[in-house]
Amino acid sequence: DDGADPETHNKYKEIIATLPRSNIRHWKVDLYQYEGFWFPLQPLEGLLLAQDYFKPQPNDVILSSLPKSGTTWLKALTFAILTRSSFGESTNPLLSRSPHDCVPFLELEIGSNPQNFNSNVSLVATHIPYTSLPKSIISSGCKIIYIFRDPKDVIVSLWHFSQKLSPEGVQTSTTEDLDLKEAFELFCEGVSIAGSYWNHVLGYWRASLESPERILFIKYENLKNETIYYVKKMAEFMGYPFSLEEEVNGVVQNIINLCSFENLSSLEVNQSGPRQFLSGMVGENNAFFRKGRVGDWKNHLTPEMATRLYQITEQKLSSSGLTL
Ligand code: A3P
Repeated sequence: DDGADPETHNKYKEIIATLPRSNIRHWKVDLYQYEGFWFPLQPLEGLLLAQDYFKPQPNDVILSSLPKSGTTWLKALTFAILTRSSFGESTNPLLSRSPHDCVPFLELEIGSNPQNFNSNVSLVATHIPYTSLPKSIISSGCKIIYIFRDPKDVIVSLWHFSQKLSPEGVQTSTTEDLDLKEAFELFCEGVSIAGSYWNHVLGYWRASLESPERILFIKYENLKNETIYYVKKMAEFMGYPFSLEEEVNGVVQNIINLCSFENLSSLEVNQSGPRQFLSGMVGENNAFFRKGRVGDWKNHLTPEMATRLYQITEQKLSSSGLTL
């Protein structure tokens, strides 16, 4: 039961029944095109609920991204930044809970209580494109942190991720392997979760140009290279900057260490244990942690594929001032 009344439910069902649908098996889920972007059924229903019901708290910070762009890392870092005075080094919830259980996804979890969706911390994550965000997020002036990543690494990560999921009750090994070439093709055409990739990034980029004080743009690759700089920047942006004393005491570095790929991926809670990704779609917690590196695409994409992504990017973003 997702908490919405039956009438609302039917209304959504009717809307969804009219949408273009892609049931190509590549992402293992059917995708529906809504307001120009593609979503699996469950997050799409969540999106509709969120558009109708979500009321952010005044201090909420929205963490937005395309899947496989560094969402897990961003959730962990912002959670650790905001909760740093409440927990000691050995008691942070991130040590015993998945970052995804510390910071909820709006469109996946609003269903359980649409009228009163509330996160434990002032953080709400989403893959919803800027133009489809609930109006309440825009009108309340909530701050947004957007993380994005080189599309070459995103498609490779997405492809691996899809292979780790399987419909409930079915062994992963018995599901057909996804063909990277075909998945790549769909990605290029914009048919991927919350895609098109380029339109998603552009939507947030344009909004951030209009109100830079409200939207912080972070590139996964930059966060990797200059983690200290960006962690401090995030803390300032969220209105909770590190004091000199904290810096001297190594608080920034402790947060970075806690949230590092090496640390998080080695924790029991993130290693195994079943996780329901979408309704009817299961996998293990470790599906969120693969390599955590920049440039792994070189091991999977051909130079031609890289050129193709480069060309699409040029064509889509050349006039935007954004470089990927
Ligand atoms: P790879 O598949 O390239 O390894 P998301 O969190 O948006 O689903 O993105 C998942 C990607 O982020 C995966 O990339 C995953 O390994 C990487 N990742 C997860 N936790 C990370 C961390 N703490 N630091 C850096 N990268 C991380």
